[in-house]
Amino acid sequence: MKISVFGAGLMGTPIADTLQQSGYKVTAYNRTPSKLETLKDSNIQTTTDISEAIAQSQYLLLTLSDAKAIESVLFTNSPSFTNKTIIQMGTIAPNESRDIAAKIQEQGGSYLEAPVLGSIPQAKTGTLLVMAGGDQETYKNCLPLLQKLGEEPRLIGEVGTAAALKLALNQLIASLTAGFSLSLGLIQKEGVDVESFMAILRESALYAPTFDKKLQRMGDRQFTNPNFPTKHLLKDTNLFLQAAEAAALNSEGLVGVRDIIAQAITKNLADQDYSAIYNIINPE
Ligand SMILES: NC(=O)c1ccc[n+]([C@@H]2O[C@H](COP(=O)([O-])OP(=O)(O)OC[C@H]3O[C@@H](n4cnc5c(N)ncnc54)[C@H](OP(=O)(O)O)[C@@H]3O)[C@@H](O)[C@H]2O)c1
Repeated sequence: MKISVFGAGLMGTPIADTLQQSGYKVTAYNRTPSKLETLKDSNIQTTTDISEAIAQSQYLLLTLSDAKAIESVLFTNSPSFTNKTIIQMGTIAPNESRDIAAKIQEQGGSYLEAPVLGSIPQAKTGTLLVMAGGDQETYKNCLPLLQKLGEEPRLIGEVGTAAALKLALNQLIASLTAGFSLSLGLIQKEGVDVESFMAILRESALYAPTFDKKLQRMGDRQFTNPNFPTKHLLKDTNLFLQAAEAAALNSEGLVGVRDIIAQAITKNLADQDYSAIYNIINPE
């Protein structure tokens, strides 16, 4: 079975690799040619030609940054998507996903949104949490492929529902990280032993595993080699805020978190691990 993966970034590269290792014949497209080099080592066919990547396969899997990138890759030359199934894995807004679905269907294709929770390690081991939005038939068609990337993909509902669920989860990434950074900052400024704080936190209902995952990075103020960079957390927080406004939710608390993430971007932390917002909340 042939599949073209669009985007050889942090997620696209391990996803393309995992699919190739699972027996799919993968073609990888990327705008910047240098990012395709590592995939060539895995005998993956690579191209910087969008039309070629579309023509190669029945399944087109997108791991692009945002809706703007998707629109530019898919619709610049108005290709036909007859008999093609587009699986969209990036984090975008529900209304953006619905707009893209409508355009693909107008051009004869099928569309499934399939955003994921998890990062590079889970993409490498096929253990991503895959959420799908679309019709039953398209989902069933894509299920064997999705199962190579996640053990238990779930169909959430129509297009837009999985995108909304993914934003709801990423809102928690932003809020939990900001909340933990603030508490850790006070612990450190007041000279409280960090292990005593963590020991009580771990025993409590307030604990989330992400706290321990990020503790070392925050303690060392070491945010290099990210799996998920600050710039994408800002994108997702802004998408959540837009969706929350449309849904008449009071998201003022998150506006403060968004402003902290935006400050991190101005301090050259855009391409660092998102836990770098600790440096804004508790400056050195
Ligand atoms: N990293 C994670 O842990 C993670 C987890 C779950 C979901 N996600 C989501 O998955 C998506 C991809 O994430 P990532 O971490 O792999 O991002 P990334 O490393 O920044 O890669 C982004 C990809 O999009 C391409 N791109 C951006 N703008 C483009 C344009 N105008 N035309 C063509 N290509 C364009 C980039 O191509 P170039 O190389 O040419 O710039 C690159 O291939 C994002 O929506 C992200 O929020 C990420």
